[in-house]
Amino acid sequence: MALSGIFLMVFLLQHLLINLTSLLPDDGKTFNIISHFMGYNPLVQFVLQPILIFGVFFHFTMGIILEYQNKKARNLKYVYHKTRSSWISKNMIITGLVILAFLALHFYDFWIPEMEYKYINNMLPENERYFHELQEKFHSSLTKTIIYCVSFILLGLHLRHGLASSFQSVGITSTRQRKLTIIANIYSLFISIGFTIIALFHYSTG
Ligand code: HEM
Repeated sequence: MALSGIFLMVFLLQHLLINLTSLLPDDGKTFNIISHFMGYNPLVQFVLQPILIFGVFFHFTMGIILEYQNKKARNLKYVYHKTRSSWISKNMIITGLVILAFLALHFYDFWIPEMEYKYINNMLPENERYFHELQEKFHSSLTKTIIYCVSFILLGLHLRHGLASSFQSVGITSTRQRKLTIIANIYSLFISIGFTIIALFHYSTG
């Protein structure tokens, strides 16, 4: 669970860094070049992408199984004590399910049309389309932009707690905990605010 979470965090960071290039004042040139490279590179398409999809599937399935086991253990074996842990730490399953729902929408918006374009309609590579497609998605719908932004806030909270607890699971000592909590806070804020700025930017300028 912890390792698949850390793997997904590395993916998210590169995904954000690539998408941040769509904010550069070059009419989407850099974003188009990188997106085209990622979209047609065989290593990315046929090795890294399947690993990523498996990682997402594994993380969510394990999360749901763990939640089910924890609930069963609490109900059957122990008297449930009120703890001082935060709402987020007790409800990782809820933020996780919201992120899963977001991902379904996100795949419908970007990934499925891309797969259709390349592998079903067999369209010729057209390396200038990515930026306009991105702008159009956000600019055409305020509701979608809001759903995306709310998901990014919950994603940030999920990451913050997930990252902190994954450090514990991989055996990092408590003397390092303080520093790592700061890193977890910076990382999750960066991801959450970074994606939100991208969505709002393209909504307002697309
Ligand atoms: C404003 C924010 C975001 C934008 C503009 C964006 C954009 C995109 C685009 C254009 C693609 C299609 C890539 C392709 O196959 O050619 C994509 C795929 C994907 N996105 Fe996002 N994304 C955003 C946020 C997120 C977030 C927050 C997550 C995870 C929680 C995420 C997860 C994924 C995944 C798993 C894929 C499919 C794998 C891939 O092809 O790279 N994205 N995204």
